[in-house]
Amino acid sequence: MSTPSEVTTLTGPSAAELPGAQELAPRFPLTRNPAPAGDPQHDAVMGSLTFGVAFTDHMVRATWTPEQGWHGHRTEAFAPITLSPAAAVLHYGQEIFEGLKAYRHADGSVWTFRPGFNAARFNASARRLAMPLLPEEDFVASLAALVRADERWVPGVEGSSLYLRPFMIATEPFLGVRSAHELEYLLIASPVGPYFVNGFQPVSIWVAQDYHRVGPGGMGAAKTGGNYAASLLPQQEAYDKGFEQVCFLDAATNTHLEELGGMNVFVVDADGTVRTPALTGTILEGGTRAAILQLLRDSGRTVREETIELAALLDQIRSGQVAETFACGTAAVITPMGRLAGEGFDVTVGDGRPGPITTELYETLTDIQYGRRPDPHDWMYRLV
Ligand code: COI
Repeated sequence: MSTPSEVTTLTGPSAAELPGAQELAPRFPLTRNPAPAGDPQHDAVMGSLTFGVAFTDHMVRATWTPEQGWHGHRTEAFAPITLSPAAAVLHYGQEIFEGLKAYRHADGSVWTFRPGFNAARFNASARRLAMPLLPEEDFVASLAALVRADERWVPGVEGSSLYLRPFMIATEPFLGVRSAHELEYLLIASPVGPYFVNGFQPVSIWVAQDYHRVGPGGMGAAKTGGNYAASLLPQQEAYDKGFEQVCFLDAATNTHLEELGGMNVFVVDADGTVRTPALTGTILEGGTRAAILQLLRDSGRTVREETIELAALLDQIRSGQVAETFACGTAAVITPMGRLAGEGFDVTVGDGRPGPITTELYETLTDIQYGRRPDPHDWMYRLV
């Protein structure tokens, strides 16, 4: 099993502790794209939003070398990047990323959710992959710079947002296996609709028993491309069987639930207790997961971060002791899991429809994100 030293518990600066976006954005000076998307192209994209297919006019960049540290901070036209075919990221996968969203509020202002948490997690991932740390304020400054440059790409439609994708790659041309001496930080943005085409509707889950995403001591707590690459074949096989997502079990015992690969999982008992797999070092500490735990504690519910055995869970679903299951993440927000199947089992959770606690959490969280209800924990940070 994993050791306590692998356990992450992320705290970054709260929105109230960060300097304002107007102050931070100039850290990535803007050179405007001389050929931004024309209005017809912009309007066509914004009129039919899907997830992650269209990108804005600009991107953010900075370079790191041992001699200069971070330098060359800038916001410039979104364009293909030039990399040596020998760049280390292409061979050894030294890469980390984050996912956040910019939300348009009714008064036209634009906000993001807990950027300090993502900044801290980015650095936790950087540590695991032997990459340089990016100052947390610079991480937030990059979000401010890009969203202020590309404000016209922040949708105003219910359920839509501007998805922000910060990432760091090893650009040094070198085939030896060691941490690279030249890296690049980039941030791109994509106007998006719901991650799942059906929006807030239950998804079906295939529980993988013959593949694992990560193992003890591996990179499971880091947000790095390799973990997602490991999920692609099981995801494809689940899809071919007629399921929408894969749930992974722990590699050490193959008995307890970890995560979906891109989302954390929760179980709601019929008595209202809510449980989620504990942070053992092999799952990613999700920002949405952390917020849900806080919201549940705020409302006085019993919340447990613990081991969730698959065999026991299946019995509890069949007996009605477990009433709801859901997955969560920045991209997919909160998504009910209506059916769990794997080799030798196939169960429907409750009546297969979104349960009341899942629905209440979805509404509370999205109301805070879209500025429709108060934000008691200072989660929202104003970008524009
Ligand atoms: C997110 O929820 O932001 C993710 O990173 C999940 C996936 C799109 C990679």
